[in-house]
Amino acid sequence: MGKILLTGGCGFIGSHTAVELLQEGYEVVIADNLSNSSADVIDKIEKITGIRPLFYEIDVADAAALTALFAEQPVEAVIHFAGFKAVAESVERPLAYYRNNLDSTLTLLETMARYGTSCIVFSSSATVYGDGVPPFSEDLKTGGCTNPYGWTKYMIEQILKDAAHAAPSLSAILLRYFNPVGAHASGLIGEKPNGIPNNLMPFISQVAAGIRDHLNVFGSDYPTPDGTCIRDYIHVVDLAKGHVAALRYGLNHSGAEVFNLGTGKGSSVLEIVRAFEKANDLKIPYEIAPRRAGDLPFSFAKTEKAEKLLGWKAEKTLEDMCRDAWRFEQNSR
Ligand code: UFG
Repeated sequence: MGKILLTGGCGFIGSHTAVELLQEGYEVVIADNLSNSSADVIDKIEKITGIRPLFYEIDVADAAALTALFAEQPVEAVIHFAGFKAVAESVERPLAYYRNNLDSTLTLLETMARYGTSCIVFSSSATVYGDGVPPFSEDLKTGGCTNPYGWTKYMIEQILKDAAHAAPSLSAILLRYFNPVGAHASGLIGEKPNGIPNNLMPFISQVAAGIRDHLNVFGSDYPTPDGTCIRDYIHVVDLAKGHVAALRYGLNHSGAEVFNLGTGKGSSVLEIVRAFEKANDLKIPYEIAPRRAGDLPFSFAKTEKAEKLLGWKAEKTLEDMCRDAWRFEQNSR
């Protein structure tokens, strides 16, 4: 059995997946250029698992550096997390997003083909469902993305489907994440945004820590029960376990296959605020602010396909997500 290469393995989802893979006995190699993460995550992964993953500080779009990695390591499969992911930034810097996210994927696929690596698991996003009507099922038509970040996910999905069609031995597993939150129960790894957080849970954690004085709730006049947007929040450790299941499936099947990774349950922004307050016994001051451009009222997954074919299902509760997010926030200061 060869090694599993995680591109972007120092990031939020990559680091949690590295932990689950190591605990399941896989050998892990991480490639990360640290553009939005830090090398001390490698120490944390070692602290949790007792095993230090191999680490290459390289940009996956750098063909020479990636080739050198593949020449040194027998890579059996790749989980491709690396990529820019900030929605608003992608609207301001579309070319940087298309260049970075597409180039890295193409370089990776070309290098895999040269070295005979025939399994890739890709971090896609529920954003590819555009403004469709939830619950989102994998066979719905995709497109209608509201920002360049979303379009990069849409385009990479197409690239992977075409590559798998052209090379029948290739296995391409496309994982559409809903809203990953929370942190490892050890409090050692979690989500560490640079600057002002864009996403809800890290923002709430920083309000709880006193770094921000209140949360702005973006819109309270949506057609939802309490007027705030509904999302399918999934604990990052559940999500990481979903990657292990997807990898197993990919190593045993060929062709392209799409899976949602979500819980199938929606929660509103105000429900998350209340769940965080209850789980951690504190108050989160908030104000109702105008809607944020591009937000959809509802998003939640249809989860049966992953359950049936991967034998995977999210297990953790909103309380787990809120408690673990807060533990990490406190530990990371
Ligand atoms: N929200 C606030 N205040 C904040 C931050 C967020 O009210 O300070 C609200 C948003 O308006 C939205 C909800 O909280 O209603 C969730 O927002 P997030 O930014 O946490 O998550 P999104 O659903 O907007 O986006 C996430 C990922 C994207 C991905 C998308 C797919 O961040 O990468 O899910 O559905 F594309």
